[in-house]
Amino acid sequence: MTADRAPVLLVVHHTPSPPTRELLEAVLSGANDPEIEGVTVRSVPALGATIPDVLSADGYVFGTSANFGYMSGALKHFFDTVYYPCLDAVAGRPYGLWVHGNNDTAGAVRAVEKIVTGLALTKVAATVEITGGVDAAARERCYELGATVAVTLTPG
Ligand SMILES: Cc1cc2nc3c(=O)[nH]c(=O)nc-3n(C[C@H](O)[C@H](O)[C@H](O)COP(=O)(O)O)c2cc1C
Repeated sequence: MTADRAPVLLVVHHTPSPPTRELLEAVLSGANDPEIEGVTVRSVPALGATIPDVLSADGYVFGTSANFGYMSGALKHFFDTVYYPCLDAVAGRPYGLWVHGNNDTAGAVRAVEKIVTGLALTKVAATVEITGGVDAAARERCYELGATVAVTLTPG
């Protein structure tokens, strides 16, 4: 975090459907909660997120669907792209994760957590795993996820 700009929370997501879009919007609403001041929230699709996006952010929320027992190919492509260029530079920065699937998100969570452990990111919120339909409780959990990670970046 630099002193001459607001800290940036980067939300990197793969949201392939309206229900997963709803979860993203809940995460962004939480991150932009009016009580959380001085944090800039940036939302970037996993297939469009770049190395400079990662280096210039101060914390991260990752979101993906579960695909074939793993994270989405889109989020995997993101990590493949940024991992070595960002290694060391991002160590210690906070992160959160949500995963949506039909019935089994465990493999996707395990895969992301292994990579972010390699990057030495710091988990600051419980991972949100949602299976099936997106209801108010799911949206609330995602809201809390966004807010919890954003709060850790609050200046001062
Ligand atoms: C190719 C493919 C593989 C999938 N694999 C899994 C999986 O391993 N585990 C799971 O829980 N859901 C799986 N799903 C379901 C997706 O996670 C789900 O479709 C996605 O989160 C979007 O949710 P929605 O279909 O309710 O909009 C898969 C879907 C597709 C298209």
